[in-house]
Amino acid sequence: MMWCDTYDSYGLISISLHWLVAAAVMGLFVLGLWMVELGYYHPWYQRAPDIHRSVGVLLFALMLARVAWRYTNPRPETIGSVTERNAAAWMHRLMHALMYLLVLSGYLISTADGRGIDVFGLFSVPASVSGLHKQADIAGEVHELLAFTLIALTILHVLAALKHHLVDRDQTLKRMLGIRH
Ligand code: HEM
Ligand code: HEM
Repeated sequence: MMWCDTYDSYGLISISLHWLVAAAVMGLFVLGLWMVELGYYHPWYQRAPDIHRSVGVLLFALMLARVAWRYTNPRPETIGSVTERNAAAWMHRLMHALMYLLVLSGYLISTADGRGIDVFGLFSVPASVSGLHKQADIAGEVHELLAFTLIALTILHVLAALKHHLVDRDQTLKRMLGIRH
């Protein structure tokens, strides 16, 4: 398989980035919901949020790589009617925007008290904005709302992919899985 995208297919880099981002987002959602319920004496009380924050920072790096890759490659054309193509373009823009806002709100919760984010002990992201009025609480509420919205959109996104595959029987899902027609 090719590394780069063409006007009608995704290459290995875009496919890997899509599925890595998808796995990270869904994993962070489940981990996030679980970790906020843990009691202080639970063995994962510290470790789970450490992992959540670290994976979140790595996700941010993947998202930047994705944007850079997208603008240096041809863009595979969406398959479907004009309405479907427009809906898909807006849906994808919205999902990208929500992911950036999630990372930003997560960063603001984590750095509210002036501490940076230690990423798996490899490097640290410094706190730049801290001590704002109720910063952790407000960013936390926003973060939770954004996470639920992104997951709701992801469900629609998956239903759309399945509709292309099962009803229209086109290449949309296959080409994101790297299956040659
Ligand atoms: C949280 C999880 C997910 C996110 C955030 C996400 C996000 C995106 C985005 C933003 C695009 C547009 C292409 C791009 O910008 O590079 C895309 C394309 C695509 N996604 Fe996902 N996705 C997720 C999960 C899934 C899942 C689980 C499936 C399959 C069932 C799927 C199937 C597809 C397909 C088939 C395309 C290609 C659409 C086309 O060619 O027009 N995605 N995804
Ligand atoms: C797409 C990426 C992400 C998703 C889907 C996600 C999802 C979640 C969810 C569902 C919660 C639980 C909210 C609640 O029920 O109160 C949560 C909490 C949290 N997230 Fe994320 N998160 C993401 C990225 C990040 C990032 C990048 C960071 C930090 C850099 C972060 C830091 C936190 C923190 C500190 C909490 C705990 C908030 C609290 O104690 O109320 N998250 N996240």
